[in-house]
Amino acid sequence: MADSAAATIGHHPPGHGPADGTKRDFLALVAGAGGAVLVGALAWPFIDSMNPSKDVLALSSTDVDISPIPAGSAITVVWRGKPIFVRHRTAKEITEAQNVKVADLIDPSAPATDAERIKAGHEQWLVVIGICTHLGCIPLGNKPTDPRGDYGGWFCPCHGSQYDTAGRVRHGPAPLNLPLPPYAFETDTKIKIG
Ligand code: FES
Repeated sequence: MADSAAATIGHHPPGHGPADGTKRDFLALVAGAGGAVLVGALAWPFIDSMNPSKDVLALSSTDVDISPIPAGSAITVVWRGKPIFVRHRTAKEITEAQNVKVADLIDPSAPATDAERIKAGHEQWLVVIGICTHLGCIPLGNKPTDPRGDYGGWFCPCHGSQYDTAGRVRHGPAPLNLPLPPYAFETDTKIKIG
């Protein structure tokens, strides 16, 4: 992580731009971060600043065109400062999510069934707030090549929590399912978050 951060800083000659000092301070924090809490707290701004053009789209609007998202992948959009995962689920991922018994869940509180966590008629789309319910890291799993844990959803590298393809926690220490943001389908290919 420090290598890519250093590469980014290399684009700015020393003393140029107001971000220099901030970035050096940030690097010092990362280098000295022995505590998981600090790493967790920094995870989102770090990802936001280092990979803004890939799977993170910082939208000023909460309208999201979901048509470019291939099945099996998710994107992250920003809503009210929070990362929102919008995942296009495969048929296999939907079936796996539907077959889970609520009684087997770590967090069985509603919305816990797959039907409660998606919009009827749009089963292939899952929209969750992408913040681990343990200490606030951003779980991995949006890209098919990312680690997704044993349940095929997301894996939080901070302390190993795992989420399934409905965003429900299946392996701790996270205690709660990923929350759902308010959203609605405006068309089959466009959602409005908020
Ligand atoms: S923040 Fe600890 S497992 Fe996710």
